[in-house]
Amino acid sequence: MEEFQIPTKIFSGVDSLDWLKRLKNKQILMVCDSFLPDTPTLAGIQQRLDQSNTVSVFSDVKPDPPLTSIMAGVAQFNQVKPTVMIGIGGGSAIDTGKAIRFFGEKINHTHLEDFVAIPTTSGTGSEVTNIAVVSDTQNHTKVPLSEPYLTPNVALLDPQLVMTAPKAVTAYSGMDVLTHSLEALVSKGANTITDALAEKGIDVITHDLVDCYQHGDDVTKRQTVHEISCAAGMAFTNAGLGFCHAMAHQLGANFHVPHGLACAMLLPYVVTYNAEHSEVAMHKYAEAARKAGLASRGLSDRLAIQRLRNRIHQMMIQMDCPLTLRAFGVEVKDAEAKTQVVIDDAKLDATFVGNPVVPSDEDLKAVYQKVIR
Ligand SMILES: NC(=O)c1ccc[n+]([C@@H]2O[C@H](COP(=O)([O-])OP(=O)(O)OC[C@H]3O[C@@H](n4cnc5c(N)ncnc54)[C@H](O)[C@@H]3O)[C@@H](O)[C@H]2O)c1
Ligand SMILES: [Fe+2]
Repeated sequence: MEEFQIPTKIFSGVDSLDWLKRLKNKQILMVCDSFLPDTPTLAGIQQRLDQSNTVSVFSDVKPDPPLTSIMAGVAQFNQVKPTVMIGIGGGSAIDTGKAIRFFGEKINHTHLEDFVAIPTTSGTGSEVTNIAVVSDTQNHTKVPLSEPYLTPNVALLDPQLVMTAPKAVTAYSGMDVLTHSLEALVSKGANTITDALAEKGIDVITHDLVDCYQHGDDVTKRQTVHEISCAAGMAFTNAGLGFCHAMAHQLGANFHVPHGLACAMLLPYVVTYNAEHSEVAMHKYAEAARKAGLASRGLSDRLAIQRLRNRIHQMMIQMDCPLTLRAFGVEVKDAEAKTQVVIDDAKLDATFVGNPVVPSDEDLKAVYQKVIR
């Protein structure tokens, strides 16, 4: 039996934050990205909240949310005992909010009425996923907490909020969307509904992301990419991901490579591997490349996939993305020394099981070596 769920109510557009006016008489814990305090964005959000609400703000959010930051937020949760939480920011901020909720509700035996997610990057899709990725910095591990009830029940997609993102954040988070789409497409849990979302994700990102990078103030394109980021989130939270994400989490945990960049570095090699080891994956990638206009109808699957891989590399170059760990600034010897850790932890990552074929240690090593230098 196929199952597909999108429990989140989604409001998109430049007026979507007006939804917040509906909240009355709530104890609100707002978890907001560290760039937000003292910005017009946060002021605009606070202005929309009715005076009858009590609002407490937690903004000690760090990229790749570490447990220490989450625990500080849990202490605030214990004091506030919120009835509503609002997570605003990049994936790290929304995930920090979800993780604070995870522990806060358990400790206090409470259940929130609403968790509202307001993304300021077009990337993770966290506003519609059941996942919060947290980091154990002492043990250099990144772990996805995954529970159905962690899915936000409201998502507000205001394209204006992503316009303040630094160019690199637009590039990296956008490549995360492409990775979600390509992994969900061939994942073990894929079905026709998730395929539709994933194929559209591949189409939009391969055409519009570089424009958003070069002309960040194009509100129409920003809204398209913001919506497709959400759609790719719906695809992968239902279909699953694969070993690109399983390895990307290790590049984040060990070398602090931003998540979307880690995905992008690995993506062409993971696509190649999956296409070589699964006929179904090969055909699905090729068909998606044709539908996105990256390859003509008459082209073989193999050549269509080559066009797709070329486009990924071309986009990374156009958006000034380092293609390897060395180009990102990691010493080759340090990267090589971590080979076994990366392989072992990738196999334990919750996203690994979604991959259409099970790569061996040697296969994982070969992919890892490709991104070292
Ligand atoms: N929960 C999920 O389903 C899911 C899925 C994929 C990835 N993730 C996780 O999400 C995290 C990555 O999230 P991300 O790619 O959105 O990056 P991020 O949240 O780490 O943000 C990157 C940087 O950009 C800044 N920033 C964000 N939006 C901005 C804006 N509009 N203006 C100015 N600065 C802004 C942040 O303060 C931060 O310094 C990783 O930890 C990754 O593992 C979660
Ligand atoms: Fe991701």
